[in-house]
Amino acid sequence: MTCATEASPFYALSEGQTSTAWSKPSRRPRSWSGKTYKAPASALKLRMSHGAPARSTLVLTGRQVERLITMREAIRVVESAFKEKGEGKVQMPPKVYVTLDEFEGDFRVMPGYLLSSHAAGVKIVNVHPNNPKKYNLPTVMATIVLLEPETGYPICMMDGTWLTAMRTGAGSGVATKYLAKEGQVSVGIIGAGVQARTQLMAIAEVRQISSAKVYDIAPESAKRFVKEMAKLVGGKLTSVGSVDEATSGVDVIVTATPAREPILFSRHVRPGIHINAIGADAPGKQELDTEILMRARVIVDDLEQASHSGEVQTCLRKGLFGRDHICAELGEIVAGKKNGRQSADEITVFDSTGLAIQDISVALAVYRNAIKTHVGTKISMF
Ligand SMILES: NC(=O)c1ccc[n+]([C@@H]2O[C@H](COP(=O)([O-])OP(=O)(O)OC[C@H]3O[C@@H](n4cnc5c(N)ncnc54)[C@H](O)[C@@H]3O)[C@@H](O)[C@H]2O)c1
Repeated sequence: MTCATEASPFYALSEGQTSTAWSKPSRRPRSWSGKTYKAPASALKLRMSHGAPARSTLVLTGRQVERLITMREAIRVVESAFKEKGEGKVQMPPKVYVTLDEFEGDFRVMPGYLLSSHAAGVKIVNVHPNNPKKYNLPTVMATIVLLEPETGYPICMMDGTWLTAMRTGAGSGVATKYLAKEGQVSVGIIGAGVQARTQLMAIAEVRQISSAKVYDIAPESAKRFVKEMAKLVGGKLTSVGSVDEATSGVDVIVTATPAREPILFSRHVRPGIHINAIGADAPGKQELDTEILMRARVIVDDLEQASHSGEVQTCLRKGLFGRDHICAELGEIVAGKKNGRQSADEITVFDSTGLAIQDISVALAVYRNAIKTHVGTKISMF
């Protein structure tokens, strides 16, 4: 039996809709030894008492997620998520931080609900710097659980690590679309890591890139970046040896480093430039000298989150400006409540801290694509 309807895509995974590409969920639970066992009648009653057909949870690995979303689609859904935020149609409680001092790590929990997109879920993301050396695991791993809004049923569980980079890039794609100068742009990138890659991908979706330069404190990282990404900008990507060179004459600057002291100064920023400030996403982080923010029209992704974790935190803490200096949240611009770029000479800064609604909206797109293309493994949780 299937409940698949147009209105609710989530039901598409109901029991009865099968595909050879999916592993069919077993109706009977299995013990660890592989032998089937019979659940006590009381447990079965608990599971089945609602009378609804059995559901499945789709599990998607990182490799599968990578193939299920393009930057173009990520930008489209993230733009729509920001619009919903601007219209006051999302719920997004603040990120919760849990520190694991004994293990020199932490994890963060990021829940969100988008009313119009019908998307609900939560991302759990850890930071354990010792993982690579000690356990051969990545420092950062993200897991996203999507919930069916009507019931709270976990419809999908996926690796959210690459998705995080995609949604962060997509956020900057949206900001660049509304805030950078029109026409062709030249781009300067500081930091040649994971985020820098999706930043360049996103800018290439919303503007034609005439040339791009990348600087990294580790020159071999910048060279690797050029090797991997040059094709995207028709070979007009070069690695350079300083921030001065990377920013000279460009229209858009991306800062994507873990810096805790300014790396970009007022002298690097000429009138008309747009900056995507990505690195500062937690208390204590800073990439831009405060003078830049004081000169610029500052747009944040979320006023509350940016105030304690974003690039603006230093100016606010030092009393260099108040919250009234922050012109808009990006969602207000996308929703048409506030202006994007207002003049050829204004300097604009997008202060990105990363929002749960970006994760959840992109995750829903990934899930829908997985359903369409029959990718993933179904498990029965309840
Ligand atoms: N705003 C968001 O939503 C968001 C999302 C994800 C990550 N981040 C943040 O973005 C930053 C970068 O993340 P990533 O995943 O790309 O990390 P990464 O480790 O993959 O890359 C960072 C790069 O920056 C370089 N770097 C470090 N200090 C530098 C300096 N002073 N000058 C030039 N280059 C320098 C490193 O050599 C490295 O190549 C981190 O601070 C991360 O927390 C923000």
